[in-house]
Amino acid sequence: MADKRSWALAITVCVAGFLWVQADSITETPAGQMFVYELHREIFQSEFEPLHKLFGHIYNDPMVFKCNKERFPDLPRWLRFTQRDPYENGFLYGTPLPQDQGKNIIEIFVTNKRSYDTFRERLVINVGPPVKQFPYQAEFFIELREIEKVLPAVVQEEIKRDIQHLWGTGNLEFVNITSALDRGGRVPLPLPGYFEGVYVKLGSDRPFSKCMQRLQTTAHQRECESGGKLTGDCSTCTNPANCISWCRSELFDLSKPVPPAPVPKVGSGVLEWGGEFSPPESPPDRDFFPDYIVTVIVPFALALILCVLLAYIMCCRREGVVKRNAKTTDLQLYHHHTIQGNANELRRMAGNDRQNVDRPRQCLQPLLMAEQPMAGR
Ligand SMILES: *[C@@H]1O[C@H](CO)[C@@H](O)[C@H](O)[C@H]1NC(C)=O
Repeated sequence: MADKRSWALAITVCVAGFLWVQADSITETPAGQMFVYELHREIFQSEFEPLHKLFGHIYNDPMVFKCNKERFPDLPRWLRFTQRDPYENGFLYGTPLPQDQGKNIIEIFVTNKRSYDTFRERLVINVGPPVKQFPYQAEFFIELREIEKVLPAVVQEEIKRDIQHLWGTGNLEFVNITSALDRGGRVPLPLPGYFEGVYVKLGSDRPFSKCMQRLQTTAHQRECESGGKLTGDCSTCTNPANCISWCRSELFDLSKPVPPAPVPKVGSGVLEWGGEFSPPESPPDRDFFPDYIVTVIVPFALALILCVLLAYIMCCRREGVVKRNAKTTDLQLYHHHTIQGNANELRRMAGNDRQNVDRPRQCLQPLLMAEQPMAGR
């Protein structure tokens, strides 16, 4: 019984391991040539909903991909990823250099934006040694394209066919495809008719055609700078979207050996005797007294003067009540007091205690005295 169970376990582990290995996709690519790997949404769709296909229900879910080198946050330096929007396929593309040879394990995380399921896949890219040499390379700018529209194999073939016609040879390979945005181009307006532009670089072992060689002449440069009519343009395009900009094409002739840089001269390894070390002089002394006077003494003196002035004004120039009264004539003082008294009286009368107020005397007295004899009559 126990035997059977351990067998079942072993088989399960084997099958699981086999499936795990199967989950890795493996591709090969030689160094020095364009590598493109398309991430097909339909394939991942069946991973997310394996049973729905049986019932004839096929979804078209938005999906986003996130790619990175295994155990690293980013992709290898030579590899780029692009996906225009979640309803389109993604592309991994780039040109590995000879120093990038070896195994590149790429982790691809797919997120289904409808169900928010995720799926992980590993892609192993084995970069091999270069199989072909491309001593003649040429770069062309395709104005009316976006990088995702150029990467599918069908479009690459179309472009290659046009260039083959221009170059006069069938021996052509893509060396590099880059979006103009990665080369300092501007993001186009989100309107139909505006494109990012794509640079394609092709290589061959056949020399450039007569017509292409015209790209290297000064007459061609002058013509392009003046912006007038182009006479030397011999490019053709079966699909108008694939037409190249003649003035932005460039040739790279790598067939001639590059003169090696002058070798640096190696000395004996011992420094020359430079004499006794004399330490630099210490800087001259500085007199800080003027600074001290300006920043401390002058403000202090000013404060002291102001203090004394204020003290004199407050203590010696003040007029006391006694002093003032002594200076004032009696008549003036009396007048002032009566005014004060009357004002107080009026104030009291205006208040509630009108009854308590003394009967007015001064001005009414003569009147009252005049009334009395009249009343007596
Ligand atoms: C391809 O083009 C990109 C962008 O200009 C550049 O960084 C990269 O070095 C090129 N690769 C090769 C192999 O020329």
